[in-house]
Formats: sequence, structure tokens, C-alpha cells
Amino acid sequence: MDDKNDEKYMDMALSLAELGRGTASPNPMVGAVVVKDGKVVGKGWHKRPGTPHAEAIALRKAGDKAEGSTIYVNLEPCCHRDKLTPPCTDALIASKVARVVVGMVDPNPKVAGKGIDTLREAGIEVELGLLAERCEKLNTAFAKHITTGLPSVTLKVAQTLDGKIATSTGESKWITGPDARRAGHLLRDQSDAIVVGIGTVLRDDPALTTRLEGEGKSRDPHRIIMDSHLRIPLDAKVLNVDSKSKTYVATTVAASTQKMKELKRKKAELLIIDADPDGRVSMPLLMEELAKMGMTNILIEGGARVNAEALRSNVVDRVMFFIAPKILGGDDARGSIGGRSPESLVDAVQLHSVHYSRVGEDILIEGYIMKEGPEASGAVSGEPQSEQPQAEDRASHKRRRRKSRKGKQG
Ligand SMILES: NC(=O)c1ccc[n+]([C@@H]2O[C@H](COP(=O)([O-])OP(=O)(O)OC[C@H]3O[C@@H](n4cnc5c(N)ncnc54)[C@H](OP(=O)(O)O)[C@@H]3O)[C@@H](O)[C@H]2O)c1
Repeated sequence: MDDKNDEKYMDMALSLAELGRGTASPNPMVGAVVVKDGKVVGKGWHKRPGTPHAEAIALRKAGDKAEGSTIYVNLEPCCHRDKLTPPCTDALIASKVARVVVGMVDPNPKVAGKGIDTLREAGIEVELGLLAERCEKLNTAFAKHITTGLPSVTLKVAQTLDGKIATSTGESKWITGPDARRAGHLLRDQSDAIVVGIGTVLRDDPALTTRLEGEGKSRDPHRIIMDSHLRIPLDAKVLNVDSKSKTYVATTVAASTQKMKELKRKKAELLIIDADPDGRVSMPLLMEELAKMGMTNILIEGGARVNAEALRSNVVDRVMFFIAPKILGGDDARGSIGGRSPESLVDAVQLHSVHYSRVGEDILIEGYIMKEGPEASGAVSGEPQSEQPQAEDRASHKRRRRKSRKGKQG
């Protein structure tokens, strides 16, 4: 085995897999490279559900040359028969591949190692775990969705240095510079859905489309408006936008049935979600519903109240704060996270795997929400500049502090 070349070809498989970002969902992003006598004889990647898997495409391209070859694939080949596409293990065995190098085990309980066992039983050499960390990071959303039935959620905020997302009159265009805005559109391009509150629609009338000028095709995520009582105006841009993706209005049974009919005539889709105790669309139930619809990557773009509820109800996995070198000041300007502040610092939302970078004139701070309980270990590996406190330690510290406060209160 030549470790350097193995890494080179797995890296190639990962780059191919990346091409499926934004289209492969709810399936995983997978790339495959077939190598014979030191030459690449077939490559493939999975484009969208229902289309051939990466291994099948790469093997087809390799043809007879697949016999005795090595195939590199970032995710364990599938072995189940309940899909539109046949199992990849069958194709690998039929092609007489000699060796399969796999980045990670498929977290899908229907596969979970069985694909590897099938190949080994057929006499094929299998190596597991090459560039495993990168492979796992690439398919974090798929892994969460397939194991929990929930989507992977990113909360994105564009704010001033003093944490404001809009002026006292609600003006927010543009807080951050062109590079940060482009990064925001790239995020939209890679997400299945973008969620905003009705407050933002009423104030800004955004189109919520992806605009990456001069960069080829971009993809609009589905637009989800949280609007418990259907206050959305029929002439709102999100209801009249020319886009291949849909606008969903998430509402409650308390909304007017007449307005529901009018929205259907505008081709908007209605999602009737149970209300939370405050009578608003329940955030966790909305996330569950979106996951059931096959949306695995959700981007929340606030306003302040929706951001607050997303954090409070613990649906967020990752945050991305673009911070502009501007200071607005004022108690009357809208802060990025609304609602009530906790009484103690120990109850602040903590991040792990934090990464700091410069985006044009702005700073981006991104990180993963530290969760208590079993989810705390779900940390995605950090970047070189990252700060990685011990997730378990912080969580148990928080619990201890809470306990001691309760004790003091008697
Ligand atoms: N700089 C940025 O990154 C950025 C991004 C977006 C927005 N903004 C700014 O933010 C401001 C709007 O923020 P906002 O706080 O007023 O409005 P918002 O967060 O966009 O929307 C809040 C409204 O959403 C509805 N909603 C439904 N279910 C909810 C739930 N579970 N939790 C919370 N809200 C729910 C509620 O109205 P109902 O009870 O009627 O349903 C609520 O009043 C605007 O000025 C906009 O320009 C800035």
C-alpha cells in the first residue's frame, strides 16, 4: 500500500463528493475514484436522490479496467435494496474490484458496517478510515438526519461590533461588506432551506434567493417564513419571486382560513405546525417537519426574535456571526438575539470548535453549540486556529453551577 497515493485519491474522492453539496440532500455527498496501475480509470459523484451512486458511475466509466483495481470512496458502499438504485456492493463484486478504500462507515443503520462485511465476505480487501475526520465533517448533516430525524441547523447573523442587526428604525441593509454578503449567498446556495420570521419579511421584504453574480449556476434554498397568524402581505417578494424552489409559510391553526386560501392561490405551500406555549409556530416541530420533507441543511437568518427562539429551543448546531467594524449603539437598535437575557453568565450559550477569520472588511466567528447530555460529544473537529474547550467539562461545570445556585436559593 502506498499511503501518499491513497491519500491523494481519497482527497480526489472528497472533492468529487463536494460537487453534490446542495443537490445530493437528503442523501450523503459521495465521490468515488477507480485506480488501476497508478492511473485513474473512472470517477463519479452522487448528484441527487434517485440518480446513480458515485461508485456505480465510476465503475461504469472504468469498464473492464475495474477488474483488479482499487476504488476510493469517502463513505461505505451501500448494501440495501430498498432504494431506486441497486446496492453498490453488488456492482463492486461484479466488477471484480480488488481493493476498496473507505473513508467512513455509513451512519445509516441499514448499512452501518454491513456494506464492508459484504465486500470482505466476497474476498475484496477493504481498508477503512482514510481521512476519516474530513469524511465525517463533509457528511455531518446526513449523519444527523439519518440517526435522529432532525436537520443540521446553522444560525447566520450579520451584526455590528456592538451586536446590532438593525437600526432603531429597523434598517439593516447593509451592515456587513460585499465579501460577507457573498459568503451569505454561498451559504444559501448550500442549504436546503432558509428560515426567517415574519418580522423580517414585514420590515425588509427580502426575496431570499441566492445571488452569486458571475459565478455560474446558483441554487435557491426553499424559503420558510414563520408566521403564526398569516400577517404576510400577498405582494411580499417571497410570494412573487421567480425561483425553482418553493416558498413555505409555517403557521398555526389560529391563522385565518381565508388567508390560507389566498396564499395557496399564490402557489405558496402552507405548513400547519402546532403552536408553542406562546401561540407561535413551534420551532422544534418546524425543524422536525422540514427534516421529514428531506431538508437536512437549514439556514436560519433571523430576525432577532426567531434567532432567540432558535437558540432557546436548542435546534441550532452551528452559528456564524459576521461582525462589521461599525458601532450603532442605542438601546432602541435591534440586537442580534432578542428575548430575555439569562440572569447568570453560566447560562450563556457556549460554543466549541470556534474558528475566527477575516471576510473582507468584516470578521467571521463561527462555532458549534455546546450541548449538554449525549449530544455534547457530537463536536465536529476544529480547524487549525480553533479553540476547543472540553465539551463534557464545560457542560458538567454548567450543571454543577446550576445545582449550587439552586442549593443557595434553598
Ligand atoms: N442583520 C441581520 O443578520 C438580519 C437578518 C434578518 C433580519 N434582520 C432585521 O431583524 C429585524 C426583524 O427582527 P424581528 O425580531 O422583529 O422579527 P423576526 O425574528 O424576523 O420575526 C419575529 C416574528 O416571527 C414570528 N414567529 C413565528 N413563530 C415564532 C417563533 N417560534 N419564535 C419567534 N418568532 C416567531 C412572530 O410573529 P407572529 O407571532 O405573528 O408569528 C415574531 O414576532 C428587521 O429589522 C430586520 O431588518 C437583520
